Amino acid sequence: MERRDFIRLTGMGTTAFFIRSSVPLFLTSCRYDGMMMNMRGRPVSVIEGYFTTLLSIPQTINGQATLTAQRTAYNIFEGKISQVLGYQYGSILGSSIIVNSGENININFQNNLSETSNIHWHGLLTPANMDGHPEDVAQPGRSLNYNFTVLQRAGMYWYHSHPDGNTAKQVFLGLAGVFIVRDDEEKSLNLPFGEFEIPLVIQDKRIFPDYALDYSPNMGEVMTGYMGPYITVNGVYSPYKDVKTRNYRLRVLNGSNGRIYNLALSNGDFFTIIGADGGLLVSPQTITSLMLGPGERADLIVDFSSYSIGTQLFLVNKTFSAGASQGTQEFKIIKFKVAQNEKDTFTPPGMLSVIKTIPESSAVKTRVFNIFNAGMGGGGNEGMSMRGMHRINNKTYDKNRIDETVQAGSTEIWVFDNSMGDEPHPMHIHAIQFQILDRTGGRNSLISSERGWKDTVMLLPGEKVRVIMTFGQNKGKYVLHCHNLEHEDDGMMLQFEIV
Ligand code: C2O
Ligand code: CU
Ligand code: CU
Repeated sequence: MERRDFIRLTGMGTTAFFIRSSVPLFLTSCRYDGMMMNMRGRPVSVIEGYFTTLLSIPQTINGQATLTAQRTAYNIFEGKISQVLGYQYGSILGSSIIVNSGENININFQNNLSETSNIHWHGLLTPANMDGHPEDVAQPGRSLNYNFTVLQRAGMYWYHSHPDGNTAKQVFLGLAGVFIVRDDEEKSLNLPFGEFEIPLVIQDKRIFPDYALDYSPNMGEVMTGYMGPYITVNGVYSPYKDVKTRNYRLRVLNGSNGRIYNLALSNGDFFTIIGADGGLLVSPQTITSLMLGPGERADLIVDFSSYSIGTQLFLVNKTFSAGASQGTQEFKIIKFKVAQNEKDTFTPPGMLSVIKTIPESSAVKTRVFNIFNAGMGGGGNEGMSMRGMHRINNKTYDKNRIDETVQAGSTEIWVFDNSMGDEPHPMHIHAIQFQILDRTGGRNSLISSERGWKDTVMLLPGEKVRVIMTFGQNKGKYVLHCHNLEHEDDGMMLQFEIV
């Protein structure tokens, strides 16, 4: 990697942090359709490194801990120090939290930033006042206590900051971590564990010439989502991992703001998906690629046993079609070096888990959410308003408005309609895990990861997806939003209340 590449590619930004009040200055120019097209259609090319830096595995902690949001520094690029945000000193991201289902978590969150922050437990079924609602924030220098019982099945969930209008920047700069729940059903499967179970948090980054992370989206990047040319895994750019000739369980989180990955092995080999957002699938599926949108997780088994020592294999992104700003480039994400012989006898069991299908007939209500852009280009935008290029049902998030009221314990079908849209939107609902009924338009079918419990679902341009869920007994206010974090901060979020 040559230094001038960094400078060339990051020369556009001069301030470390995005100043939202500058947005209205861009709005007038955004009204020109030609420019809009141009802004939407610009993919950010990935710069591949040499995969010579060792992958970092986050340390693990249990549910009794303090997480301190702070400015700190980290070696994202080998031999270089980057200014980042983290939940502990000297590290980007936070430790991996591992708890057993049924256990209590008691996390003290200390906000040592100079702006408000909080923690949302993405995918966990928490009481409303523990959920990290965008309005429940700690002021600078203050703390919040998150205390609740983890009552759900094994799976890889995650946590990240979630203050209204400022989530994208804080997550991009480093405020996220994985949250693993174990249970007996999962334990009985004897899946690869210890050094053979590896969380992989995939994120794309952009940097200043001094290597500090650069979050400074322009108008076009609020449209497409903010993407960077440097792909990191667990906070490390261009990493490698030595592996043994056996099975590994790779627990992948797309923790990127806006980038979608179409994961595959560089030699086109098969791998196995055993779980997704809300835990194990009913049975393992053998696949050669998997699309993973921002916020989504995949539980993968990769078998290195047929490779000889010295083989180098990459997890790559394959090209895909998802609107003009995404998917045009194939690139490498992480290198696996087969370094040592070790036999294991593991084969994924034919049955992994029991998932009770929620019958469509049990739904008492269907709600439709239009998620194609209603704000821009339709002539109805709100002039100099700071937000609203992305909307849900033509509405921009308003903390003082409850958009939907649902009954505790009831089952509903929610329809996300991107059939007229030309951008991808990973839609996420707090408070529950849902099942996906169907997808019409676009890909017209469900993919392997979508046949289990989910909390985030990708809608590519032209697609409509129906999900079904049963609300729990935790009453209060939650949000649903696009997990393209620029879209979320732009207001592509609504509030619902469980009563
Ligand atoms: Cu991962 Cu409301 O978000
Ligand atoms: Cu969430
Ligand atoms: Cu979106």
